[in-house]
Amino acid sequence: MQVITSVKDIKLKVKAIKDSQLTIGFVPTMGALHEGHLSLIHTAKKENDEVIVSIFVNPLQFGENEDFHQYPRTLDDDCRLLSKEGINALFCPDRSEMYPAGFCTSVVLNNLEDMLCGKSRPGHFRGVAVVVLKLFNLIQPDSAYFGQKDFQQTVIIKKMTRDLHLDSTIKVLPTVRDQGGLALSSRNAYLTELEKRDAYCLYRSLVKAQSMADSGIRNAGKIIREIENILNSYKTVTIDYISIVNPETLESVQEVQSGSVVALAVTIGRTRLIDNIILA
Ligand code: PAF
Repeated sequence: MQVITSVKDIKLKVKAIKDSQLTIGFVPTMGALHEGHLSLIHTAKKENDEVIVSIFVNPLQFGENEDFHQYPRTLDDDCRLLSKEGINALFCPDRSEMYPAGFCTSVVLNNLEDMLCGKSRPGHFRGVAVVVLKLFNLIQPDSAYFGQKDFQQTVIIKKMTRDLHLDSTIKVLPTVRDQGGLALSSRNAYLTELEKRDAYCLYRSLVKAQSMADSGIRNAGKIIREIENILNSYKTVTIDYISIVNPETLESVQEVQSGSVVALAVTIGRTRLIDNIILA
């Protein structure tokens, strides 16, 4: 596997692929790779001639009191896994390569960046948008792959791609869960055994939301109150938000319908977890 760390070299690699008229599938990550990333990589491999994976723990998307320094960095293991998967190009620049001294450009998402997770993580989605835009400019993917777990991120990236006329198709793949239903996330590594056991209540509460909708309950408030009751019955869980939203605008809905998204964020111990379900 070619491990590329400089902007100059990734541009050369992309040019060589484009000159050969091959398609590029791109899987952007922050490393600490798990089955969720692998499902993106497997689909990218099926749908493209070449797959480029990036690993970059993007400082711009972490708030001052967030976990930038603790975020798991497992580059050697990640490289082994990617080689085993037959990936032939990994882009893993360092901070100064991505943000040279004097870097000052931002991407503003207006309404979308202040909702849901954006409320308690100010600046987070600007950081995501700017790094994804830079990566798209460098890698020029035909398709780029993201997990549904980060639902708001996928909405924002799709919107940015449309608004800025970027030539990439955004593919969103279902959340990969462990056997108990916990959405896979690099941050799950922070959970103690007890916290992890409690974290299963997130998915249980989402399944309950689906079963309420299935039984004909349309009132979003009622479903949210039920989720709240479930989550509040765990001492370790502190709710950030529970919302039922329109899948494109992220505006709250009063009445749920097929396609509405139940999204939630909680803190368990020192770990912030998010999850969501698209109602059938
Ligand atoms: O979802 C992630 O891992 C990150 O937000 C992303 C898209 C790689 C940007 O840093």
